[in-house]
Amino acid sequence: MLDWNPALYRRYEDERTRPAQELLARVPLTEAARVVDLGCGPGNSTELLVQRFPKAHVIGTDNSEAMLVSARERLPQAGFELSDIATWAPQEAPDLIYANASLQWVPDHDTLIPRLFDALAPGGVLAVQMPDNRQEPTHRLMRAVAAEAPWAEPVGDADKLRTQLFGLGGYYDLLAPRAAHVDVWHTIYQHPMANAAAIVEWVRGTGLKPFVDRLPPDLQASYLAEYERRVDAAYPARADGKRLLAFPRMFIVAQKKA
Ligand SMILES: C[S@@+](CC[C@H](N)C(=O)[O-])C[C@H]1O[C@@H](n2cnc3c(N)ncnc32)[C@H](O)[C@@H]1O
Repeated sequence: MLDWNPALYRRYEDERTRPAQELLARVPLTEAARVVDLGCGPGNSTELLVQRFPKAHVIGTDNSEAMLVSARERLPQAGFELSDIATWAPQEAPDLIYANASLQWVPDHDTLIPRLFDALAPGGVLAVQMPDNRQEPTHRLMRAVAAEAPWAEPVGDADKLRTQLFGLGGYYDLLAPRAAHVDVWHTIYQHPMANAAAIVEWVRGTGLKPFVDRLPPDLQASYLAEYERRVDAAYPARADGKRLLAFPRMFIVAQKKA
């Protein structure tokens, strides 16, 4: 996959940061010495952690150098490291492992989630938020267009491009036997978007990226045009002309026994 584009990602930063705030609000810690933000992106989620735990040693990790450059500029007081979440292991056990909108890019959740939880200090917290939008029109349509000629061949098996996620019950089952308590919930955000092009721009910063990255430039343009045409039909104009982008997200907060 080509590197991420921090400027494109930050265009909808307020909307993307709201779930990060709501996840952090449910973290049952009054203080923390070591905090890690896995998949920190441009540092928007790390900034929340620094504000909430001003005395903590806060580290952000990401496997995108472009994202880390943006994060370091934003938050010189935090530490940022290039690493892959799939193989990441802390040198010292953190009190909080926080992952907002990143673990959906990492495979093998049946082993990943217990491994992250086991890496916590006693009483530590694993806090995870992931989009749950694979069955939303935005995502069904990106797969549907990619399954057609002339885009199907270069994109390949679109269904294999992203990690298969469990339902909330599956994450609860993975964590409950090891945890003091587990809190899971689901929120469907409704984002008013200016038009279909704005919806396409939003998903281009994240979920659409693996599809577009696989196409040569001429096919990228035709794929995006056809995708936008279908998005336009799937999200009708509301009373003010805007489109309501429904965005389901799942939240998991699990605390280790002290
Ligand atoms: C949707 S952004 C989330 C950014 C930020 N945490 C936030 O709350 O907005 C996902 C981030 O995860 C990073 N990422 C994806 N796969 C990763 C992996 N295997 N290891 C480390 N970072 C990864 C991406 O580079 C990107 O910066």
